[in-house]
Amino acid sequence: MSSVSMAVNLGGIPMKNPVNTAAGTFAAGWQFENLMDVGALGAITTKGAAAEPWAGNPQPRLHEVTSGMMNSVGLMNPGVRGLVRESGDYLRDLATRTSVICQVAGHSVQEYVQAVELFEELAPWAAGLEINISCPNIAKGGAAMGSTPEGAAEVIRACRAVTKRPLLVKMAPTRVAEIAVALEDAGADALTVINSIPAMAINVHTRRSYLSRPTGGLSGPCLHPIAVRMAWEAAQAVSIPICGVGGIMTGEDAAEFILAGCTAVSVGMANLVEPGSALRIERELELWAREQGVSDINELIGAFEC
Ligand SMILES: Cc1cc2nc3c(=O)[nH]c(=O)nc-3n(C[C@H](O)[C@H](O)[C@H](O)COP(=O)(O)O)c2cc1C
Repeated sequence: MSSVSMAVNLGGIPMKNPVNTAAGTFAAGWQFENLMDVGALGAITTKGAAAEPWAGNPQPRLHEVTSGMMNSVGLMNPGVRGLVRESGDYLRDLATRTSVICQVAGHSVQEYVQAVELFEELAPWAAGLEINISCPNIAKGGAAMGSTPEGAAEVIRACRAVTKRPLLVKMAPTRVAEIAVALEDAGADALTVINSIPAMAINVHTRRSYLSRPTGGLSGPCLHPIAVRMAWEAAQAVSIPICGVGGIMTGEDAAEFILAGCTAVSVGMANLVEPGSALRIERELELWAREQGVSDINELIGAFEC
């Protein structure tokens, strides 16, 4: 079988192959260095960081469920300054080998803007910024900022005004098509679809949640068909590229997102179950592309036929 060009462009972020890592499941990358060649990935995305450090939620924060896991980490992070202090030297070097995407968190439009400004100042090596609009909006009682087209667009318009770097948006699994259109209009360069799905798991013996909070975010294979459907809906609705996320454990899982119209994919929970799986998934994706008889993976983006 002849070779396939695997390079893609995610809204201005060059990727040597379509495989990225999902925010919060790959830390800042260096934690995986002795398990895999991190620089061989198409990109990595760092854990969401805010203008100031966040403590996150109390333990327990993780719970395994059938075909997946739930988390209520609560976006614990050391802040942009802390991330750059702890991992900036590594990430600067990594950025010479692959694209480094930094995820941005915030509780208000102003906090997002402050975090983007800090990344602008302290992280010139970042190939792009990913705005996580699933963060709770403290001013509006904790509802996710990205749960309405208006709220989502307001965050992205404000961030767009302070950076020229490629801007990705990590979307909540709600009203995907209409919010995608609002985000494209607001200046997003690409969309990451989807974040974990709000879920509950109750210990019937203690009558308590398995997590320290009533609900948590569901990740893993149980999410995959829902995520593929939502990524496909987003891809139908907008012309900016989509990065598909949700339950990718194999190259074929990633291929489904590509066929549904995604330019790239992010591997999440699989990093926790099998560290190093992101590169296996990349190899399997390449094998599939060869079997499809194309010379360039871009030919397969959106090639789904009903
Ligand atoms: C432990 C853990 C922490 C996460 N932290 C973040 C985060 O900081 N920001 C974010 O946008 N998503 C976060 N996510 C969600 C993932 O990035 C991803 O969207 C979700 O898990 C679905 O993909 P998967 O099924 O491949 O894991 C986290 C997921 C897990 C399991």
